[in-house]
Amino acid sequence: MKSEDDRFRAFPAFDDPALARIASKRHKLGPAAEALFPEAHLSHRFVRALAARKAVSLKEILESYEFHRRVRRRVRRRVVADLCCGHGLTGVLFALHERQVEQVVLVDRRRPASTRLILDAAAEVAPWVTAKVRFRETPIEEAALPAGAGVIGVHACGLSTDQVLQKGLQSGGPVAVMPCCHSSARRHAVSGLREALGTRLAIDVDRTYRLEAAGLRVEWTSIPVAITPMNRVIIATPRGGDASAPGPPG
Ligand SMILES: C[S@@+](CC[C@H](N)C(=O)[O-])C[C@H]1O[C@@H](n2cnc3c(N)ncnc32)[C@H](O)[C@@H]1O
Repeated sequence: MKSEDDRFRAFPAFDDPALARIASKRHKLGPAAEALFPEAHLSHRFVRALAARKAVSLKEILESYEFHRRVRRRVRRRVVADLCCGHGLTGVLFALHERQVEQVVLVDRRRPASTRLILDAAAEVAPWVTAKVRFRETPIEEAALPAGAGVIGVHACGLSTDQVLQKGLQSGGPVAVMPCCHSSARRHAVSGLREALGTRLAIDVDRTYRLEAAGLRVEWTSIPVAITPMNRVIIATPRGGDASAPGPPG
């Protein structure tokens, strides 16, 4: 039986095994989007606009949307920073779907060509996105974030995930990551736990204790494994909230 975490929440049609089988496809999504995302609401229209430009793959779309769906209520703040953002699709979803988010800062040391296509697709269906999004082509170590910003990092790779967490701690707002490539972060877990739990789990346990020790409340969830086996999502929120937090979750 599927756990709640393993269900598709943004696009429930993908719970159908026939569609779940294609959820990890890495080739660029094109005309197939018309049948897969036929509805009139904003998320389907955005996916069709992405597909019309062959901007990203089905995997990237599902990964970003399912991550966003799980963390949005905890992370949305006036400013949201998507660190190690790659093409930046996940951050763009906050600009597109979250009214309270006024500014999205995308940070990566390299800006891929697909970012332009994603922003063009967003502008077509949601003109308010353009003014909200800024891309900073810089190492995340050099990115200064405003106090209380919500911070996300999707598949930032190894120790970069820890740098994203550190940036979140410095900003004093919530931070959510989906870690991958744990090998460079091995030193963060003691060998006994690595042997008992496996490296990935041991490192994420260690991250959780470090965040709790820094005063945050940590929750784990996951996106459907049909999209990626690197599917654990760690969400850390300041205890008692913070001054820049929006009202109750919608
Ligand atoms: C696996 S990609 C993930 C991209 C995106 N978040 C996603 O989910 O598609 C990792 C990204 O992290 C970026 N990156 C890694 N370390 C970085 C650092 N210290 N500063 C800025 N970008 C970094 C790389 O350039 C790359 O785009």
